[in-house]
Amino acid sequence: MKNLLSIEHISNEQIATILNRASELEAGAPSQLDQSYNVANLFFEPSTRTKTSFEMAERKIGVTVIPFETGFSSTLKGESLYDTVKTLESIGLDAVVIRHKMDAYYEELLEGINLSVINAGDGAGQHPSQSLLDLYTIQKEFGRFKGLNITIAGDVSHSRVAKSDAYALRSLGANVNFVCPKEWQGEFEAHQSWDDLIETSDVIMLLRVQHERHEGNANFSKENYHAQYGLTSEREKQMKDGAIIMHPAPVNRGVEIDSTLVECERSRIFDQVSNGVFIRMAILETILKGRM
Ligand code: CP
Repeated sequence: MKNLLSIEHISNEQIATILNRASELEAGAPSQLDQSYNVANLFFEPSTRTKTSFEMAERKIGVTVIPFETGFSSTLKGESLYDTVKTLESIGLDAVVIRHKMDAYYEELLEGINLSVINAGDGAGQHPSQSLLDLYTIQKEFGRFKGLNITIAGDVSHSRVAKSDAYALRSLGANVNFVCPKEWQGEFEAHQSWDDLIETSDVIMLLRVQHERHEGNANFSKENYHAQYGLTSEREKQMKDGAIIMHPAPVNRGVEIDSTLVECERSRIFDQVSNGVFIRMAILETILKGRM
């Protein structure tokens, strides 16, 4: 595997290999890298979890992290993404982790770039490392995907997590449903109420309401959204035994999820963050080993 661009670019077998390797790394297995590699993290959009998690993963497997601050780079002088990445390749980097506001930004890098590209989120496109850590979290909980009922609720049309997760989960045999206002369903067919999905779901995954994309919508009310589409404490009481709550975060407490549920017994929200480090170690190791 030279790059990680989208979850659709990797097979179920490659997914299984990465999840298994993450599990070994979590159990304390040493890094399989036997030479030094240089990696930079290029985040052109804000991030707390993904950026810090990749940096932690890089350090844990012995990769040299080359500092790169987008706000102080020559992209501010108009340098293109291609020229920025080609420059880092010429300096000697082996891989870059990129988050960018442009959908499928990586397509302009595929011709002419030899270093490895790991997509940390492209526009409203994909977020493959988040998907892999979500899959890892679900596998640790249930030991399987086939037949699980997974409900994804929230701002589906703007969510790269919803698209990546739905694709991967369906290809692994899970039943995926969506709950959201009709105007947010995008390419998917969503339920406009919870119907019986609360009682039947093994996983309820909430998505962040992306307020920055709904500014000026006078009809949107956080209170109404929470009442109709949010995971309220009343709805949580109807969830079946063993069902879990997930959220890629950041969380709007009191909007897509009641604040008291963020760290409740069913919640795996902070476990997802912890799992992300091992998944990103496995992703980096797999890609860098392939460059030997
Ligand atoms: N889940 C996620 O991508 O979070 P960040 O935006 O903080 O990286």
